[in-house]
Amino acid sequence: MTPSESNPCPRALTAIVLAAGKGTRMRSDLPKVLHRLAGRSMLGHVLAAVQAAGAARIAVVAEPGRDDVAREIAAQAPGSAVFPQVERLGTAHAVLAARAMLGAGDDVIVAFGDTPLITAETLTRLRAPLAEGAAVAVLAFESAHPTGYGRVLTDGTRVRAIREEKDASPEERRVTLCNAGLMALAGPHALALLTRIGNDNAAGEYYLPDAVALAVGDGLPVAVVPVAEEEAQGVNDRVQLGVAEAAIQARLRRGAQLGGATLIAPETVFLSHDTILGRDVLVEPHVVFDTGVRIDEACVVHAFCHLKDVRLEAGAGVGPFARLRGGAVLEAGATIGNFVELKNARLGPGAKAAHLTYLGDAEVGAAANVGAGTITCNYDGVSKHRTSIGAGAFIGSNSALVAPVSIGAGAFVASGSVITEDVPEGALAVARGRQAVKPGWAAGKRAALRAARSEKS
Ligand code: UD1
Ligand code: MG
Repeated sequence: MTPSESNPCPRALTAIVLAAGKGTRMRSDLPKVLHRLAGRSMLGHVLAAVQAAGAARIAVVAEPGRDDVAREIAAQAPGSAVFPQVERLGTAHAVLAARAMLGAGDDVIVAFGDTPLITAETLTRLRAPLAEGAAVAVLAFESAHPTGYGRVLTDGTRVRAIREEKDASPEERRVTLCNAGLMALAGPHALALLTRIGNDNAAGEYYLPDAVALAVGDGLPVAVVPVAEEEAQGVNDRVQLGVAEAAIQARLRRGAQLGGATLIAPETVFLSHDTILGRDVLVEPHVVFDTGVRIDEACVVHAFCHLKDVRLEAGAGVGPFARLRGGAVLEAGATIGNFVELKNARLGPGAKAAHLTYLGDAEVGAAANVGAGTITCNYDGVSKHRTSIGAGAFIGSNSALVAPVSIGAGAFVASGSVITEDVPEGALAVARGRQAVKPGWAAGKRAALRAARSEKS
């Protein structure tokens, strides 16, 4: 059965993302939830997951007055509501900061902005028991090191309560089933449960997990949904940030490999959340894919390349040791070799820049050849200017093309030229000193120099 057949009229889903943590252990001027993993903020990852899980409405509870957090929310999940939590009185108190979102009777999922590895698939599993009548569903994992987590207390197979570490008896602390913190609450019960949560505990905080004991006391069904400990891990300091980055990289590499890309040394390849690698792409060791990269099928990225905001069309090749950025595009079969940098440059099909070249703000036509050491001089100290190289043109090595300038299709530029004027189609441009050859000159010169020296001594 599909979900809609089992539940013909599912309630809509509201997601509440708690992000009011100060994150002091990060030792950073940046709010904790804005620290990045795989090129996207932790908050961005969580917002992507709740959107993919089908949340119709999203609320983020944040520290008041954080414009940077508000901007990130607007960028990652436009239309989300932002609620300030003025005093930090606990996770249930934080959820109630978004109380205005709870009146409509939607199912509610509470996620944490500092638990960034959570997937949409897990959020969907967490919500599923609500459609079967559960009032509350909690996400839980088994841990060999449960210290610090809330423990899920059970009577046989039935959950009874969640006990925070601070409030737990020695016996309860031996429980290894831990609360991941994320929770789903059924629309008809959510507000009533949340508003009854008190703060009579060791921390004097309003604990969201207390919704479990309240629901059990009311005789309402509570479900426990399992999750892998790795996916539930939170980030509180830079060590944990590094651990989460490693986990997300492993996930992204695996996705790229299963999608048909070969990563020769996967542990040395760094991907962004939005990297797209097509079928039969080959990635050699030590490559960084920063954000905005799309590589079509059968391209090769040789070792030690850095790419950001780049599109490679089928069969293109880059590197080794190449840097591509700022909207660089290689059309089908174009190649970029070692020590070549491209910024906002487009190479037509089959065009080549094989060695030691900078192409910035440039258009290179099909099958053109850009020789070693060519530089587009695109910046005059104030503004950037464009260079256009026509199809089939040949740019001799060590040429400087001073933009704005255009080289016509099929034209030749002689090696070592400094080109400051447009070159017409099919023409030769030579812009360098003419070579003079004086036969036998060297021996005469040396003799003269030696004579001058012996006169002095
Ligand atoms: C919480 C759970 C605990 C669980 C653990 C999993 C509670 C009371 N405890 O504990 O059972 O094992 O997560 O990691 O929920 N936040 C606010 N405002 C607040 C308090 C918290 O926005 O007033 C946010 C934090 O920024 C964070 C999340 O809620 O994103 C969790 O808060 P945190 O203080 O980390 O809770 P834990 O002690 O880890
Ligand atoms: Mg925590």
